[in-house]
Amino acid sequence: MDKIQIFGGNPLIGEIKISGSKNSALPIMAASLLTDEKLSISNVPKLSDIDSMIKLLESLNVKVNKKNTTIDFQSFVPESLSASYELVRKMRASFLILGPLLARYGNASVSLPGGCAIGTRPVNLHLDGLERMGVKFKINSGYVTGNCEKGMKGSTINLKKISVGATENLMMAATLAEGETILKNAAREPEIIDLAKLLIKMGANIHGHGSKTIKIIGKKKLKGCEYKIMPDRIEAGTFALCVFGCSGKIKLLNVNKSISEHLQKIFKPLKSLNMIILDNGKSLLVKKIKETQVTIKIKTKEYPGFPTDLQAQLTSSLLKTKGKSEIVENIFENRFMHISELIRMGANLKQKGSKVIVSETKNLKGAEVMATDLRASSSLIIAGLIANGKTIINRVYHLDRGYEEIEKKLKKCGANIERIKK
Ligand code: UD1
Repeated sequence: MDKIQIFGGNPLIGEIKISGSKNSALPIMAASLLTDEKLSISNVPKLSDIDSMIKLLESLNVKVNKKNTTIDFQSFVPESLSASYELVRKMRASFLILGPLLARYGNASVSLPGGCAIGTRPVNLHLDGLERMGVKFKINSGYVTGNCEKGMKGSTINLKKISVGATENLMMAATLAEGETILKNAAREPEIIDLAKLLIKMGANIHGHGSKTIKIIGKKKLKGCEYKIMPDRIEAGTFALCVFGCSGKIKLLNVNKSISEHLQKIFKPLKSLNMIILDNGKSLLVKKIKETQVTIKIKTKEYPGFPTDLQAQLTSSLLKTKGKSEIVENIFENRFMHISELIRMGANLKQKGSKVIVSETKNLKGAEVMATDLRASSSLIIAGLIANGKTIINRVYHLDRGYEEIEKKLKKCGANIERIKK
């Protein structure tokens, strides 16, 4: 297995091109199951999660044609409407094929994703919503099998909790259901808007995406189209936090205005991080200005709040900052696997339930550490970049799920970072 080696202490100066959004690309790829016509998707990031989704779609008789960052998908009637544990366990987003398969074919069997390092992550909201649209489910040997031979019917669905994945699964299913579906308490993430825009280009009738209530009027058939994936706001936020932790100045390229404004808003409490929107929103200049005392209290929340996907990176970026900060994780119950690894580097961190207290660590030292999940991995990268001496990060495959060539992008900006291939 590959490792990442870092010698910390360098400031970061340069330009980084932000890739297409992973969390947008995955549901958009699942949407290829809604039509027999070709979808041509551009700005797809080169990540192992994307490869996992391609394998899953190919197992369902989707023909996939890759040309650099543009991928064509064309879905033909599959022999079997079943997604195996082997394919689903690698990536929870695989569960997003359930809604499209049920809407198009009336039945489907998908392995339950089970738990993962950041918590139990149930799928009850996906299943409850689909049941309201007329699907009957049976759970057997770890598989959920849904049936709605008479076709799906639009319905009003009040999501008990805000869920990105459930909103996406239900929105996709509703595009082919008979009549009107209203999703209440829907997630408002930009990735939901990106998926809705694609579906509308495919001919779907959707209103209110980006708000708490989404209305979808089902169509008999959707068509193919070309679509460009939005930039990855979590990747951009991670690099901004690298600059905050290490000091320096990086121009983030290929972003957009709404992502830039959102990052400016969520990082406002980090007073020494200066963010300037350039090129009409297409670039964001991120600069560390004079060090001040930082005492922040941040709680992760659904969009437009502080994203849980940047919580781990925020923690390590604060380690060398004067002051004492509090970070509360509100979305996942166990998203603190990085804490014990950071403590092995000497980090001054205390965890109490869902709260982490970060205090200034004068002597953060490089160490051999273990990545446990995707965002924990990037938080270890930030810690390695600001620590004294050598850090080795093991289990880099977690990083490759969601960051395209992160070590190359950081190296170009002056970081002393290498991938050690095994
Ligand atoms: C998506 C993102 C992930 C991000 C998360 C929250 C993708 C591919 N992944 O994951 O990076 O961290 O949103 O922003 O887009 N829940 C239930 N029942 C359900 C579904 C969810 O209780 O049926 C709970 C979860 O356990 C969690 C919360 O709802 O506590 C939010 O999860 P959700 O928004 O569904 O996350 P994902 O869509 O899996």
